[in-house]
Amino acid sequence: MIEVFEPIIGDEEIDAVVAALKRGEISGSFGESLPAFEQEFANYVGCEYGVAVSSGSTALHIAVAAAGLGEGDEVLVSSSTNIATALGVIHNNAIPVPVDSENITWNLDLDLVESLITDKTKAIIPVHLYGHPVDMDRLMEIARKHNLLVIEDCAESHGATCRGRMTGSFGDMSCFSFYANKVITTGEGGMVTTNNKELAERLRLLRNLAFTKPRFWHEEAGFNFRMTGYQAAMGLAQFRKIDQIVTEKRRLAQTYNRFLQDVEGIQLPHEAEWARNVYWMYAIVVQPEFGMTRDALVDHLRASGIDTRTFFCPMNQQPCLQSRPGFRAVPCPVADSLWENGLYLPSTYTLSESVIKDIADVVRQPA
Ligand SMILES: Cc1ncc(COP(=O)(O)O)c(C=O)c1O
Repeated sequence: MIEVFEPIIGDEEIDAVVAALKRGEISGSFGESLPAFEQEFANYVGCEYGVAVSSGSTALHIAVAAAGLGEGDEVLVSSSTNIATALGVIHNNAIPVPVDSENITWNLDLDLVESLITDKTKAIIPVHLYGHPVDMDRLMEIARKHNLLVIEDCAESHGATCRGRMTGSFGDMSCFSFYANKVITTGEGGMVTTNNKELAERLRLLRNLAFTKPRFWHEEAGFNFRMTGYQAAMGLAQFRKIDQIVTEKRRLAQTYNRFLQDVEGIQLPHEAEWARNVYWMYAIVVQPEFGMTRDALVDHLRASGIDTRTFFCPMNQQPCLQSRPGFRAVPCPVADSLWENGLYLPSTYTLSESVIKDIADVVRQPA
């Protein structure tokens, strides 16, 4: 089976983790790797501060908490996303309001945002889906006009840019994931980046059980969302390869594009002229002219030894959100259709041109 993604872990990562273990960097409280990873990654993103945490999900959770969002507050979120985006909101007792997608980049439709704002709306969490950036210049203009806080969900967009500026450098806070299939990985892990010193301090406080002075005296309820030192050491080793990884991901996408561009009824991933897409996963959408449903294509690929994943089930359809008090049933027909018709193909960035051609041939010639 050609897996949908396989992490590439080299001797550099293994040596870095072993060295960190030998230095005693076991927990998330001691050692040099954590602050070094935080600073280097934050610099890359274009932010002053980085706060490493245990996952992309806890990054979102703690960012919403640090922003002081809570009961009764509405937070606009991309409807087509991983559930973690909305969980960060509901675990703080706030209400996620799904924003439908647009058809070309599959990101949230900025034309819809203003119509969804109420006097309860406090923030917006745009997701740079599958590595294509949201038009952050336009989003920030809307957010500033309505006094909304912006938390970028960059779980899939390390290295993606909007008009030459890194995703993660626009919002008040930005949340990255270093899960096994992400652009760079620490196995499990995440980071919040920000240029706001006060928010960085709050994030550090909340990450570490909100310890204050005297020790073991707690004014507020924090979390243990710490990343371990040896994970940070792995993150540093991965980070040294990030430019090469992004280049390889773009090569993979361009190779697929070349072999699939003339297949009728298959929508390929977009790259707007103002954008650098990092193609976290190589995603396509099956259109009616293709003559086969998405599910039939998935089965056909599987029968040929090729693994795939469907697009995300949108937030407007999630039972765990619909059952929450105050949840608004916002229709999201485009996100619904992406969930029914979208899939991503094997996206390990070391796949050779001939394997990519074989996969494209299976897509092209349904049985
Ligand atoms: C858009 C998005 N947000 C958040 C997350 C959560 O990250 P993690 O798995 O590290 O908790 C993911 C992926 O896993 C994601 O794809």
